Amino acid sequence: MGAIAPSGMALSAVVAQQVDPLSQGPVIELGPGTGSMTGALVNRGIDPKRLVLIEFNTTFCHFLSDRFKGSTVINGDAYQMTKTFNQLHMAPAAAVVSGLPLYSRPQEERIRLVRDAFTVMAPGAPFIQFSYAPASPIPLTLEDIDVHGLPLVWRNLPPARVWIYRKKSNRLI
Ligand SMILES: C[S@@+](CC[C@H](N)C(=O)[O-])C[C@H]1O[C@@H](n2cnc3c(N)ncnc32)[C@H](O)[C@@H]1O
Repeated sequence: MGAIAPSGMALSAVVAQQVDPLSQGPVIELGPGTGSMTGALVNRGIDPKRLVLIEFNTTFCHFLSDRFKGSTVINGDAYQMTKTFNQLHMAPAAAVVSGLPLYSRPQEERIRLVRDAFTVMAPGAPFIQFSYAPASPIPLTLEDIDVHGLPLVWRNLPPARVWIYRKKSNRLI
């Protein structure tokens, strides 16, 4: 499902709160649009130089480069994130924030996106996704992905939920 308006401040703040400003390394944002979440990340204390913004829409990319000086803006497909990010030769990412309309893609593609993100993130780092649907875009029962849902943010149009996905650590037997 796409958005009828950019995310509001309340939702953007809830998303940004999931990123530890004391963490090290880049913060990747997928589908930043005009930068509602990006602005909240900067307000949270994330230096724009740490931001890697991957956006499909060229006009939005120009806008983002202008608004978030020092950030790395990539006009590209978020579903090719690993290839794109690896070419930057950066440290492992501290978090991935996604504003992508995940439900517009088949479930296998959504799961692949999250698993791909884990390959470029530091151990235990969060993949943070918001969604207007009540259910998680990623199934709750996968053996390798830990899913945590936050309460519905009512002060957004439409109300949205924030989901946090983390790679489960391997169990020692
Ligand atoms: C629902 S809007 C969210 C915008 C912003 N993050 C917000 O919360 O207001 C989705 C954004 O993802 C971008 N987008 C959609 N598919 C994409 C893809 N495959 N790669 C990169 N960006 C994509 C769209 O251009 C749009 O800016």
